[in-house]
Amino acid sequence: MTQTATSTANIGVVGLAVMGSNLARNLASREGNTVAIYNRSPEKTRELLAAHPEADFVASESIADFAASLTTPRTAIIMVKAGAGTDAVIDQLTAVFEPGDIIVDGGNALFTDTIRREKAVRETGINFVGAGISGGEEGALLGPSIMPGGSAEAWETLGPILRSIAAVAEGEPCVTHVGTDGAGHFVKMIHNGIEYADMQLIAEGYDLIRRGTGKSPAEIADIFTEWNRGELESYLIEITAEVLRQTDAKTGKPLVDVILDQAGAKGTGAWTVQTALDLGIPVSGIAEAVFARSLSSKPAQRAAAADLPGPSAAPVADVDAFIEDVRLALYASKMIAYSQGFDEIVAGAEEYGWDIQKGEIAKIWRGGCIIRAQFLNRITEAYAEDPGLVALVTAPYFREVMARAQDSWRRVVRIAAESGIPAPAFSSSLAYYDGLRADRLPAALVQGQRDFFGAHTYKRSDMEGTFHTLWSGDRSEIAMDDAH
Ligand code: 6PG
Repeated sequence: MTQTATSTANIGVVGLAVMGSNLARNLASREGNTVAIYNRSPEKTRELLAAHPEADFVASESIADFAASLTTPRTAIIMVKAGAGTDAVIDQLTAVFEPGDIIVDGGNALFTDTIRREKAVRETGINFVGAGISGGEEGALLGPSIMPGGSAEAWETLGPILRSIAAVAEGEPCVTHVGTDGAGHFVKMIHNGIEYADMQLIAEGYDLIRRGTGKSPAEIADIFTEWNRGELESYLIEITAEVLRQTDAKTGKPLVDVILDQAGAKGTGAWTVQTALDLGIPVSGIAEAVFARSLSSKPAQRAAAADLPGPSAAPVADVDAFIEDVRLALYASKMIAYSQGFDEIVAGAEEYGWDIQKGEIAKIWRGGCIIRAQFLNRITEAYAEDPGLVALVTAPYFREVMARAQDSWRRVVRIAAESGIPAPAFSSSLAYYDGLRADRLPAALVQGQRDFFGAHTYKRSDMEGTFHTLWSGDRSEIAMDDAH
């Protein structure tokens, strides 16, 4: 396909469902962009054109025309549901694109799929970039946080375009070249894992306050609004207040009381945990958030277990003190979720050979994305001070928060357990914190057990080497050849 005089668009979007349409409109609204658009069913394209005559779109009804409408290097962003559809569009585009052109997958693809696709597309000389895009429909339209992977060559062309549409936080666009091949989708996956944890922690905080104090959802909304003025300031806290304040028009009840309490999931949280298991990274807070959604969505098990014994929540003695305890427990647990997420980024970068700048990731999450929050600056600072930081939670700011939050955190987890209020993310985050800081862990006993039944051997803390106790013999210890 050669360039013709009719090639006028510097960027194209394939897939015009809500996210694609909004991204195309965002692109068209920025100075200097002319946007080629294409959708499998042409009605969607016509609808978008009719609804937005102001936008500088070049519409095509065939993929060949779409390619012909683009200036070189042709750059197209695929916005279709992640999965087989993505592969189909990639095949179509590679058939009409030329070496040097750029195909961007802006969906929530699994990063290993992105690695595979990048490798296959690279063979043709075309660049393939997996880009995580966060911020939902509104973010796509007004400015998302963008996490692109792919080659440095592709980033040269793509960088200015993505910078033009990204959210801006403190004067900086929320986009950076994360790393090669699947790095962008990997980081987006971690973003989503943290998103799950943050949402679950907020939900647990709400539940504890509601059941511990008897406050109404609207009253709790005011508490969240208040929290949003301080260190917990974030998009998720802000929208939580909105949701809690909403009254159901049909019944007059708080909407949160009529929504079925079974949380859905599209899989990115589970991927974060599955990948962490493979990498050996304990993302326990994130995992609890994923499992809490699974537990909620098991109505038969919940019904069968509903009459199992347990305490009923007793009102807390000092309401204001309890609410402040929950606030601090939430903040501390949230930091654990980020700390675990960044640990996974470090491990993933090492495993897949990506040079990921952790401070930059925290920066591009400050605006546009679902987990955007004031405290992300603290993460950037922590990595700026110590790029080799082994655990975020040990950085000075985080230490200070742990020092002032830990008593509250422990009280909240104790009250939750005593009152029979499930707080899996709060409690597992605290257990993780105590596990990390423990001088000795019972892992020593686990090693002893492993050696007992399986001769799995152990190491000693007082000398080099590998050892085994002759458990079924005279129980003397033997030194093993390290080749074993
Ligand atoms: C974002 C979101 C979004 C994600 C949903 C999925 O960053 O804009 O992470 O990409 O698809 O939030 O969440 P569920 O798994 O909860 O459906």
